[in-house]
Order: sequence, then structure tokens, then C-alpha cells
Amino acid sequence: MGDTLSRVPLILDVDTGIDDSLALLYLMASPEAEILAITCTAGNVPAHQVAINNLAWLELCGYDDVEVALGAEVPIIQPLMTTEETHGPQGIGHAELPAPTRALSARHATEVWIDAVRRRPGEVIGLVTGPLTNLALAIKLEPELPRLLGRLVVMGGSFNHAGNTTPTTEWNIAVDPDSAKIVFDAFSGLPEERMPIVCALDVTERIEMKPEHIAELAVAAESEPAEIIAPEDPPEQRSQASNRVIRHLSDAVRFYMEFHLAQDQGFLAHMHDPFAAAIALDPSLGVMRPAVVDVELAGTLTRGQTVADWRGMWGRPANAAIVVDTDPAEFFRRVVDRVGAFARRVG
Ligand code: RIB
Ligand code: CA
Repeated sequence: MGDTLSRVPLILDVDTGIDDSLALLYLMASPEAEILAITCTAGNVPAHQVAINNLAWLELCGYDDVEVALGAEVPIIQPLMTTEETHGPQGIGHAELPAPTRALSARHATEVWIDAVRRRPGEVIGLVTGPLTNLALAIKLEPELPRLLGRLVVMGGSFNHAGNTTPTTEWNIAVDPDSAKIVFDAFSGLPEERMPIVCALDVTERIEMKPEHIAELAVAAESEPAEIIAPEDPPEQRSQASNRVIRHLSDAVRFYMEFHLAQDQGFLAHMHDPFAAAIALDPSLGVMRPAVVDVELAGTLTRGQTVADWRGMWGRPANAAIVVDTDPAEFFRRVVDRVGAFARRVG
């Protein structure tokens, strides 16, 4: 008998988004990933658009049996803010995916989370690449959720690093800081190997997708012609790639690169969410350090800031394993290998 692949059962909670899209492609391309369901929250774009984006990516790739459930359409306390300027009017940049034909799940995201962890206690990996609203609501309904979940991986926060939403805050936390505090508080007291893995801007802003990565993906997918995108391309230029996955991914990422260029960060795209997805499948890709993480809620300038107590000054048990280092080149090798081969198969 061949070695049986030990699969990783995942709930993916997203605010899709361009980098959320690549996170989903990465998981679909990874044979060890068992995507149990996708739950959608408002963030980059409104929740309904997030859900449509996920149904559309799944259908494009022939992944028609993954439940997509709608969750929170607004944060638990503060008004919703979205960022179409970053991710495009529909949240997938310049990509225009075929409209999905499959319906959304009749279940709410919180029901999906609670049911999954009760069915498979200690097994399910929760990967959150958007605001933490759905998870916070699920914890309120099932306080045992942190102990029933196998492990939580969060893309969010910024520690010894500038924010990307205000000077001290990262987008996913800034959209709903109250939910983030509920989640971090709820995961206090777990053993180190069960603590939430936090992928913050400190490391995810080192994950810089560049045009050459898109070109390498197209080669791996045997797509024609060569997929070369550049900052001097005319604004209306769109991909002519023969491979559908490459074509839509290239159009999506181009928008993100244009946004980063406009922010004087270069013609590149910080791929926060697919990095968190890669960590969820293989935590050894990151170097982690335990800390107590809490969220500032009362600061006039700093509401939404994630604060790490690395040295136990607060006298509280650690509640997070913060990724403090990684090898971005290794991450992109995995993206090109996996997503390139996947695109060749399905595109
Ligand atoms: O700050 C980056 C995070 O915010 C990413 O998850 C991006 O998709 C947005 O949700
Ligand atoms: Ca996201």
C-alpha cells in the first residue's frame, strides 16, 4: 500500500480578496488539504461578494463540493469598512471570473464552525485570513471551541512593524478589533503546541510576489504565451494566458501590484493569506515564538493595535505562537510547484 497521505482538515474563513484567492488556490492545489468548508465574512469587500468570489473560484477549478457559508456582514460593534481600492470593486482585482451557478450553503458560518469541531474534536485546523468576526461569534455560541479545534492559524496583526491600515494596525484586526480581542482572550491557557499561530505583517510583508512569480506559474501550468506583467503595461492590459486559472490569477494579482506600486512599495504584492495557508499545512515553514497577545480597544490613535508581551510582563499565560521568521523563497517554490501543476490539471 502506498504511504497514505495524512490529510489536514481545514475550515477556511475569508474576506476574499486577492490574496485570499491565492490562499484558496494553494489549498486546492495541496493534496494534503481537506477543505471542509469556506466561511465568509465582510472585510476587503462585503460578505455576499466574498461568498460569490469563493463559489466562482471553486467552480472555475472544478471544486464543486465544498460548502460556502455566509457569515458576519458587519463587525460585532464598529461600522463595517471595506477596501475596494486595494482589492478591486469585486475583491478580485481585474479578474472577471465566470459567475458561479452553485448556491450558498443554507447554514450560517458559526453553525459550520461549531458543527465541524464537534464532529472531529481536536482535528480541525481553523485558518482565518480575514476579520475574526465569525470566529468570535462562534466562540460566544460554543465557549469550548478553542479546545475542540485542532489548531487556529490567523493572518492578522502587526507587532514590531508598522500597520497597513493605520500607523499601528493591520487590516483584519482593524476591521473588527473587538472580535479579535474575544478570540485571543478565548485561546488563553492552551499548551504551546495548540496555541494560535499568528502570521502578522512582520513576516507577511516579506512575502513579496513579483512578476517573475507569475511568469513561473504560467510556465509550470504550460500556459501560452509567456505571462509577463510589468508596471509600464497599459492600464487596460489583461492576461491572454491560455490557462484559465493563470489568466484570472494574473489579472487579479496585477491589480494588487498596481496598488502596492501606488503606495510606493514597488510593483509587487504582499501575499499575506497564502503564506498563512502554507503555514496551516506545514507550521515548520515558520519560526515561532510564544507571547501573550492582546488587542488595544480604547486607544484614540491605536484602537485595533495588536500588542505582544514577549517577556511575561503582564503575568499572563501565552496565548499565541507568533511567526517571527520564514524563508520566502521556499514559500514561493511551493506556490509555483503546487499551484502551477494544479492550474495545468484544471485550467
Ligand atoms: O492586512 C492584510 C490582510 O487584510 C489580508 O488578509 C488581506 O486579504 C486583507 O484581508
Ligand atoms: Ca484576507
